[in-house]
Amino acid sequence: MNTTASTNLTPQKILVLGATSGIAEATCRIWAAQGHSLFLVARNPEKLAAVAADLRVRGASYVDTAVADLDDTDQHPALLAHAINSLTGMDIAYLAHGVLGDQSQAEQDFNTAAHILHTNFMAPVSLLTWLANFCVQRHSGTLAVLSSVAGDRGRKSNYVYGSSKAGLSAFLGGLRNRVDREGVTVLTIKPGPVKTAMTASMDQKKMADVDQVAQTIVKAIAAKKDTLYVPFLWQPIMCIIRHIPERIFKKLNL
Ligand SMILES: NC(=O)c1ccc[n+]([C@@H]2O[C@H](COP(=O)([O-])OP(=O)(O)OC[C@H]3O[C@@H](n4cnc5c(N)ncnc54)[C@H](OP(=O)(O)O)[C@@H]3O)[C@@H](O)[C@H]2O)c1
Repeated sequence: MNTTASTNLTPQKILVLGATSGIAEATCRIWAAQGHSLFLVARNPEKLAAVAADLRVRGASYVDTAVADLDDTDQHPALLAHAINSLTGMDIAYLAHGVLGDQSQAEQDFNTAAHILHTNFMAPVSLLTWLANFCVQRHSGTLAVLSSVAGDRGRKSNYVYGSSKAGLSAFLGGLRNRVDREGVTVLTIKPGPVKTAMTASMDQKKMADVDQVAQTIVKAIAAKKDTLYVPFLWQPIMCIIRHIPERIFKKLNL
């Protein structure tokens, strides 16, 4: 039995940015089974068409798409206006695009680091600035954004990616503080390692299952939560990691 499908849910208009991401795709499969309307944005037209076709079959009441490289921030206002016009409104925006990047290369080459920071931080800031103002005008809406536990403390193995997510989490915290009183919800999602294409080059044996992560995200969005560590175990783990004194932390191989 599919426990995610429900006939009692109010249909939602959902905009998904980075819709071909493994986590976004798994989340959209649940929303499609619940009969919601989806506008999907991704940069790879073939992958995007395949995802859209699958979600139509799974029961989404409406699916439309746009191909866009989200690094191109100049295009964001027109892209977002087009998506909201197509959906005839927007209840939820789900930001999922991102790159892990090459940490070793970023240590040697600023342009590599700048690319990671642009995709994971500057592009979401551009999207969220427009989307937050849209939601504030209507006094409604949820902005759900994939940050990462990696943003909770810089580590030598991935501090460029981690700092992009730290910036994003800080931005989301401030944005929530600004728009909560306007009836707008901001959810910061902090996954630990998840089995997707992003982590395919690593040992995925102990990583979280993407469908379980997606189930938890769907529930947190419906419950209008502020922050989500997923799986939950990462909340106490990151609390401990954040509190390790710097004189010890700098000696660790994390
Ligand atoms: N997997 C994890 O362990 C993990 C943990 C914590 C946080 N996260 C975060 O969760 C989000 C989703 O990651 P995932 O695991 O689902 O990884 P994924 O499957 O590799 O998805 C990343 C997506 O981002 C898209 N993307 C990258 N740059 C883009 C751009 N400039 N314009 C448009 N799309 C772009 C990629 O498109 P293409 O397919 O065209 O490359 C891909 O669809 C990311 O923000 C990631 O940082 C992941």
